[in-house]
Amino acid sequence: MILVTGALGQIGTELVLALQEKYGKDKIIASDLKEPGNYNGEFVKCDVTDLNSYDKINDENGIKIVYHLAAILSATGEKNPELCRKVNVNGLENVLKVAKKCNQRLFCPSSIAVFGPDVPRENTPQNVELNPETVYGITKVKGEELCDLYFNEHNIDVRGIRYPGLISWKHRPTGGTTDYAVEMYFDAIENGKYECFVSEDTRLPMMFMDDAIRATLELMDAPLDSLNYHSNYNLSSMSFSAKELADEISSHIDFECTYQPDYRQDIANTWPISINDEDARNDWKWEPKFDISKMTEEMITNLRRLNE
Ligand SMILES: NC(=O)c1ccc[n+]([C@@H]2O[C@H](COP(=O)([O-])OP(=O)(O)OC[C@H]3O[C@@H](n4cnc5c(N)ncnc54)[C@H](O)[C@@H]3O)[C@@H](O)[C@H]2O)c1
Repeated sequence: MILVTGALGQIGTELVLALQEKYGKDKIIASDLKEPGNYNGEFVKCDVTDLNSYDKINDENGIKIVYHLAAILSATGEKNPELCRKVNVNGLENVLKVAKKCNQRLFCPSSIAVFGPDVPRENTPQNVELNPETVYGITKVKGEELCDLYFNEHNIDVRGIRYPGLISWKHRPTGGTTDYAVEMYFDAIENGKYECFVSEDTRLPMMFMDDAIRATLELMDAPLDSLNYHSNYNLSSMSFSAKELADEISSHIDFECTYQPDYRQDIANTWPISINDEDARNDWKWEPKFDISKMTEEMITNLRRLNE
């Protein structure tokens, strides 16, 4: 059986569907702090910071693989650092402890937020000193270290990707710094205008959700002995400025974007512009399929359909 924590979030919403399709609906248990609404499949409410109840859920359901997506993202993390540390570090420790006890395989995502302002911002390498300034980034570095510790000392097969900003149409995200890219599409379709919370020249690494889900499944399927890294693979697809994205959307619909940077600009300023992912490409043959124009067509077609 496979458990997905944080299953009602931006990634979980789509990963659960992909896992249901790959392994069968009856093999997947989705879990989250929130109520599931009209979720189609098996669901259990679960707080990953509560070790006893998390342990019980795993025991009772004979869980063998966990996709651990429960987390507090960057923008929410800066506003509530205590909660961010509790969920991202203590919650992960609980997941790792239970993985050791039950001999589980794990997927635990990291983020480009692990990089701080001192690393090369263009084509940021896999192996650099990690010195993030945000609370979220610091918890993600700690997460990578914990995962590596459990891999090296307890033989837990734990894998992870440093996701860039993810763009999707099935779920409107909240709490992340790259949310502006997703909001721009949603607001363009719903209102024809958007006020962007970073400046027009802010350029960050991004990826379409379909590529991110495929990467996740491909990494989990890769033979262990082909992997030179475990919880922290750099992954890249595209980088564009907020204005380049607005221009791309404007080429499809009548759309006006204005820029009113807020506290999230400071977070974005410390992150890389583009990512070097040659290790992922070499070790498990990662290759993205979506660029900005293909992604935009897909986003607009699907959001239009939902708004009809
Ligand atoms: N979405 C992105 O652009 C992005 C980029 C880089 C890394 N990531 C990483 O991917 C993972 C998933 O991100 P996401 O975008 O789906 O996040 P999200 O915020 O959309 O979803 C996280 C889910 O976790 C749940 N949650 C929060 N606290 C919990 C707790 N104590 N117990 C159980 N569930 C809890 C929330 O209810 C939410 O549904 C995170 O580790 C995040 O750091 C995401």
